[in-house]
Amino acid sequence: MGILEGKKVLVTGVLTEASIAFATARLAQEQGATVVLSNFGRALSLCQRIAKRLPQEAPVVELDVTDTEHLSTLADRLRDALGLGEGDHLDGVVHSIGFAPQEAMGEGFPEVAWEHAATAFHVSTWSYAALTQACRPLFGSSASVVGLTFDATVAWPVYGWMGAAKAALESTSRYLARELGARHIRVNLIEAGPIRTMAAKSIPGFSQFEDAWDGRAPLGWDNTDSEPVARSTVALLSDWFPATTGELIHVDGGFHAMGV
Ligand SMILES: NC(=O)c1ccc[n+]([C@@H]2O[C@H](COP(=O)([O-])OP(=O)(O)OC[C@H]3O[C@@H](n4cnc5c(N)ncnc54)[C@H](O)[C@@H]3O)[C@@H](O)[C@H]2O)c1
Repeated sequence: MGILEGKKVLVTGVLTEASIAFATARLAQEQGATVVLSNFGRALSLCQRIAKRLPQEAPVVELDVTDTEHLSTLADRLRDALGLGEGDHLDGVVHSIGFAPQEAMGEGFPEVAWEHAATAFHVSTWSYAALTQACRPLFGSSASVVGLTFDATVAWPVYGWMGAAKAALESTSRYLARELGARHIRVNLIEAGPIRTMAAKSIPGFSQFEDAWDGRAPLGWDNTDSEPVARSTVALLSDWFPATTGELIHVDGGFHAMGV
């Protein structure tokens, strides 16, 4: 028996096999979950291709988190994709989505135009609440929502407005936890160390993060392995964190707790 036996979970954001979402979907299936994936635009066909590499091929629904119609029809489309009948529910949602235009990252933080910062907030922050709301009609007596962040308590080189969007994501998670706790919907974030995914490669100077982790994370850190992050995400989706919400769990090899 796996820790997600019988659970139905939406995992957003599978783009390549390096995606944090891919390792999460794989482990969720290995732990007994029925998984549905989502992505959008050109990433949709990549996601459909990668879905075949999971232990069981997962259905894929289209979801651009900036598309109002995609959001308003999501619950019905998930119901179809998962074959949910009367009394069936969605038990978990993984928000593994982030994007900021190149103009919003790198140096020159104060010069960035609102439209670029706004895109980062729309896709990476507001979407956490919008996705949760879109899935709400499918939740039963309890559910778990998990998102992914990168330490937003400090300012990093080159991360720019993506860092500000992550800080707002961390706040958004707490507000969601506050509002949805009465319905036993837990809302938590995993704060991951740097992993070489497509999103990471789009950050100019990402290697500076990797260099920072070198030698400082007491447990060590492998930036090509998303499994530790995926394992913790699966644990949060399970019934083994029943009284945890509004929490931010560090999965960074212990980096955040060290001075230098
Ligand atoms: N890679 C890291 O070092 C790292 C560290 C901490 C947190 N994270 C976070 O993990 C999450 C997953 O990123 P990843 O590193 O696995 O990279 P990734 O590139 O594999 O995944 C990002 C996903 O976001 C999707 N996406 C972008 N815009 C979207 C939109 N409008 N609608 C729907 N989906 C959209 C992309 O298609 C892609 O699948 C992100 O929130 C990221 O910020 C990553």
